[in-house]
This record gives sequence, structure tokens and C-alpha cells, in this order.
Amino acid sequence: MSERKNHASHGSENMPVAKREMSRRQFLSYTLGGTGGFLAAGMLVPMVRFAVDPVLQPKKEADWVKVVEESKVTDSPQAFKFQIHQVDGWYESDPEIEAFIAKDKSGNIFALNPTCKHLGCTVGWNNNADYKDQFYCPCHGAHYTKEGKQLAVSTAPLDEYKVKIENGFVYLGQLGPNQIVNK
Ligand code: FES
Repeated sequence: MSERKNHASHGSENMPVAKREMSRRQFLSYTLGGTGGFLAAGMLVPMVRFAVDPVLQPKKEADWVKVVEESKVTDSPQAFKFQIHQVDGWYESDPEIEAFIAKDKSGNIFALNPTCKHLGCTVGWNNNADYKDQFYCPCHGAHYTKEGKQLAVSTAPLDEYKVKIENGFVYLGQLGPNQIVNK
């Protein structure tokens, strides 16, 4: 006689040997529990990834960058170069940027991005004899007023940098839609 049988009959002759089969309730709870856990993990992984992956994190407002002495800004737009620190996902860089900075009729300083709003070429100031005192794009002939308002080809004005003056220097901040043309 086997050892198991001996054990089963010991002390209680008539008791049946307990079968270790899974009940329907256990089967359902294991199956549903497993599926629920799998689904929860499926939702949790993207959330954790969103929290740790800088590519997916919203970009913060650009820092202010010191560009030029206030005294050097004239009524006529001039191109000034400056560097910004850029974090794109895991990649960091310091590209050189250019802005046209000038004074408006009231003497307030403004700064425009030279990227043409048609297809992205670079505009110049007073670079075409036919368009005096205007920004002109050599790619397809878009031109803009001094404040960046579109006059032909492009359907939008040149973008504008936020500007602040501190201790005699012009600082540029976030680039955004042109607000000067509506003033
Ligand atoms: S990109 Fe400037 S006119 Fe087309």
C-alpha cells in the first residue's frame, strides 16, 4: 500500500481522500485577477514613461537671454545673434539664433524672428530694392512691414519674441505669435 493511502486511512477510515482540484470560483478569480493585473500594468507603463521621459514632458517657458545693449537698438531693424540652451528629449544643444530688433513709433523695443511664415526661408531687412523698408523673403517673394505684418505671399505675420529691458540690456524670451501688428 502506498504511503498516501496509509496516511488517508489513518484515524478516519471512512473519510475520502481530499482532491486538490481547482473550484470554478477559484478558476474565475485567478483568471479575472490575472487579466485585471495585465490591464493595470498596460495602463501604468505609459504613465510611468510619461513621468520620466523628457521628450513627453511639456516644454517649459524659454529663459530670458541677454542679447544686446539697449543703446544699440535703432528705429531700423538690425539682426542680432544670440545663443539659447535647448533640451530636446535627452539631447541638449546651444544653437545660435538671430532676431531683428528695432524700436516702434512710440520708442518701444520689439524683436522679430526672421523665419518666413510662408515656407520657412529666412527674410532680410531692406534686401530688395523693390520693397524699401520692408522684410523680404528671397524664396518666393513674401514681404512684410517693419512690424512683421505680411503684405504678400505669406498669410501670417513674422513671429515675435517677448522682450524685457534690464540694466540697459535687451533680453529676449519666449517666441510667439506677433502681437505688434494688432496694436
Ligand atoms: S518661404 Fe518665404 S516666400 Fe516662401
